Amino acid sequence: MKSKFGLNLMALMLAAGAMSAAQAYDGDWKRGRIYYRQVCTTCHTAELKKAIGPNDKTQAEWAAVFKTDKHGKGKDTVKHFFSKQYRDGIKATNAAAAKFAAVPENELLEDVKAFLNKSAKDGDSPAGCS
Ligand code: HEC
Repeated sequence: MKSKFGLNLMALMLAAGAMSAAQAYDGDWKRGRIYYRQVCTTCHTAELKKAIGPNDKTQAEWAAVFKTDKHGKGKDTVKHFFSKQYRDGIKATNAAAAKFAAVPENELLEDVKAFLNKSAKDGDSPAGCS
């Protein structure tokens, strides 16, 4: 009995270790701001004819955008716009996509999340698109 308990505890500790390793990356909001402004906002201004300001939504609303991962009316995922493939496709004309071409997708995603969290309507420093 004792050794079985010890094994379970070990498995639990291993699992906890794996989880914290997966979450070890802390979003860099400054890099997120550059990416959001140059990739997301550039297209919203061009196609939507208006920017979507970080402070147009609350932190919970932004979290929902990334959780449901449906972009706009659902044709694309939000993650699509972070993929290397997407960055490669626009990097000839997009400075941020070119600059961050080699950054892992999930890091850029965390960066933008950090920026939006900070700049949301109810964030630490709400920010529009200027
Ligand atoms: C290639 C163009 C393009 C890019 C890049 C783009 N979007 Fe969009 N986005 C649109 C268009 C067009 C709409 C509105 C039409 C629709 O709903 O599909 C939209 C709508 C949205 C909406 C819904 C608006 C609302 O009021 O709820 C959100 C949120 C959003 N985009 C977030 C993002 C984020 C975050 C990024 C960057 C990671 C991004 N978009 C990149 C074109 C783009």
